[in-house]
Amino acid sequence: MATETVCAKCGGTGWIIVEHANVSGAEPCACRNEGRASRLEERAQIPPLYRNASLENFNVPGPDNPIARRELTNVLLAVKNFVRDFPNENRPGLLLVGDPGTGKTHLAVAAIRQIMAKGFECLFWDYQTLLNSIRSGYDASSNSSNREAYRAALDTEVLLLDDLGAQRVTDWVEDTVTSIVTHRANHRKPLIATTNLPEPDAGSSFIQRSALGTPEYRKTLADHIGPRARSRLFEMCTVIRMPGDDYRLRKARTL
Ligand SMILES: Nc1ncnc2c1ncn2[C@@H]1O[C@H](COP(=O)(O)OP(=O)(O)OP(=O)(O)O)[C@@H](O)[C@H]1O
Ligand SMILES: [Mg+2]
Ligand SMILES: [Zn+2]
Repeated sequence: MATETVCAKCGGTGWIIVEHANVSGAEPCACRNEGRASRLEERAQIPPLYRNASLENFNVPGPDNPIARRELTNVLLAVKNFVRDFPNENRPGLLLVGDPGTGKTHLAVAAIRQIMAKGFECLFWDYQTLLNSIRSGYDASSNSSNREAYRAALDTEVLLLDDLGAQRVTDWVEDTVTSIVTHRANHRKPLIATTNLPEPDAGSSFIQRSALGTPEYRKTLADHIGPRARSRLFEMCTVIRMPGDDYRLRKARTL
């Protein structure tokens, strides 16, 4: 059974008495924020797999691999700076671009957990699930409360949109993602997004060799979400390109 520990500083009242130049007054205790942070975490819809993801348990390669070590250390530093400076009015967002398994979702969740610790409300949405929820909200036969998904994506203080672009591209998908990104960009509302789609402006290659050795063109982020959403994302986000290879495979190989 979980036991609630009573704050030693305020005895659980939420207030502490402080002395200012012979005048004493009551001030809110820091434990109020802790309570708020854990309530925010409960509501953030972070998937169980990532519930413990933090900046502290994000590993960087050892000294035997200096290039990879430097690259991933720089990525970690950039995320730490983003969190430290949060909220940044001019560039309120963060976009993590890179191949599958390189740690994008881990870092994005780690970032919002720190941002929640600062007292901001954050919401995790898998891109496909969000679009499916919004779509079912438009379905005339469905309960109109499903429209809440769309409102939440627009209004929540900080939105984490995971796996951006992972949907079949239709005009509806493009319009929906464009309206969410535009609304958030216009209102300077933070958006943290991850994508494994190639993005030439973040240094990804979108040409790959097929089994026959002929070049194939992979669909880019712009192909999946449309040029307008992409352009606004770049304007509002610090863009981080993830180096390295698939951590899931690396871990499986070393077991
Ligand atoms: N540097 C790292 N240190 C510790 N754990 C890591 C690191 N990189 C990835 N992981 C772990 O490996 C798994 C895969 O990482 P993650 O899900 O963040 O990858 P991703 O880049 O989001 O992949 P995808 O594009 O498939 O969504 C997760 O369990 C994550 O916690
Ligand atoms: Mg991911
Ligand atoms: Zn207290």
